[in-house]
Amino acid sequence: MTRKLFIKTYGCQMNVYDSARMADLLAPMGYAPIDEPEGADLVILNTCHIREKAAEKIYSEIGRLRRLKEERAATGAKMLIAISGCVAQAEGEEIIRRAPAVDMVVGPQAYHRLPEMIARIERGAGRVLETDFPPEDKFDRLPTGTSSQKGPAAFLTVQEGCDKFCTFCVVPYTRGAEFSRPVAQIEAEARRLVEAGVRELSLLGQNVNAYHGEGEDGEAWSLARLIRRLAAIEGLERLRYMTSHPRDMADDLIAAHRDIEKLMPYLHLPVQAGSNRVLAAMNRGHTADDYRRLIARIREARPDLALSGDFIVGFPGETDKDFEATLRLVEEIGYAQAYSFKYSRRPGTPAAASAAQVPEEEKSARLTVLQDLLARQQRAFLESLLGRTLPVLFEHAGRHEGQLVGRSPYLQPVHVSAPSALCGRIAQVRIERADTNSLAGTLAGERVAAE
Ligand code: 5AD
Ligand code: SF4
Repeated sequence: MTRKLFIKTYGCQMNVYDSARMADLLAPMGYAPIDEPEGADLVILNTCHIREKAAEKIYSEIGRLRRLKEERAATGAKMLIAISGCVAQAEGEEIIRRAPAVDMVVGPQAYHRLPEMIARIERGAGRVLETDFPPEDKFDRLPTGTSSQKGPAAFLTVQEGCDKFCTFCVVPYTRGAEFSRPVAQIEAEARRLVEAGVRELSLLGQNVNAYHGEGEDGEAWSLARLIRRLAAIEGLERLRYMTSHPRDMADDLIAAHRDIEKLMPYLHLPVQAGSNRVLAAMNRGHTADDYRRLIARIREARPDLALSGDFIVGFPGETDKDFEATLRLVEEIGYAQAYSFKYSRRPGTPAAASAAQVPEEEKSARLTVLQDLLARQQRAFLESLLGRTLPVLFEHAGRHEGQLVGRSPYLQPVHVSAPSALCGRIAQVRIERADTNSLAGTLAGERVAAE
């Protein structure tokens, strides 16, 4: 019997990966993914708790789903609603209490238990809440299929959780303590993906460069060692990793950017702020100068590296002078791309309790100034690529007939008129146009890497 599954994913790539694993996990139960909630037998909202009012948005989405559920019930059919991800972890009991339409709440460390939870509900055992950090390894319990993999670029979670406790962040509470998957398990998953046609792997982790998974020799391997191992897989052309913390940017990882050709010249390395006072209050464990020195060393190893980052403006106690230090740092470093946010209070985190909250208008004004600067830098970076010939991995068809969309080594989408047979392959493209977030160009001769 085929049943229809709709998963709505919020937030980071880790959630995108988790949603794909949930789809794989439910496939043997007859669940096939669909693109909208209408007609679904099971709807999963895979939530993110980083942004302001995240929980409120989920409650209003549940309200919309409740109406669909009632319409379906009127026809004698059932629609189960599950809430997963970080809002589920943080607000589990509250969701069960406040939203009777929800059948299941499952935290990010427990979603391998979904089949069992669904079976319990189908037996009429009532609604289920599963937000423990179970002792068994979720990754050991997940199916090894690649059925949900679409296209030649894939995510692979290698590390989860965080012990850093930045004072603004919920991740250490929702995702739990740092955990690294063993090397052999990751390599097996990577090989399966490559056999299924994957050419580019993005290794994911909240603190991916803190990776210290067990290797076959029983030792804790660094991320650089893991990357070296994966780079040896034939058919795999590109590797990336995200998100990193400046404190864990080890020497061997910097060297990997110089030595490993398959490691792409792109690094997402958030600094959050440029004022030492604010960095200390955030519990970041480094100063602005530490970060400057680190970037200089990484750029020495890989001069064309495209740098990305995250910034928070209006952290409690941030003064105009502190904010100017952030602008100065951004000006000095130069980002190819970056994310910036107004500080938002996350209940339970230390910074939320601070009496020195910055007024909303002030945060908005600072964000506008910072985003203008970052947008100028992004434009400058994209324009610096005009006239260059870059290897592009084609991922899918574009919106226009005869067009393919791929990624440059620096992670921007590139639009090119190209035969669909090039999908899944790398070809040289001459960059001719820079748009706000993407590039366009024409094929420049033969492929660099076949198959
Ligand atoms: N307020 C604003 N931004 C936040 N981030 C994390 N927590 C908060 C918060 N409470 C941002 C950080 C992090 C990114 C994923 O989200 O910049 O790096
Ligand atoms: Fe959150 Fe990243 Fe800080 Fe960990 S290092 S607490 S995930 S911002």
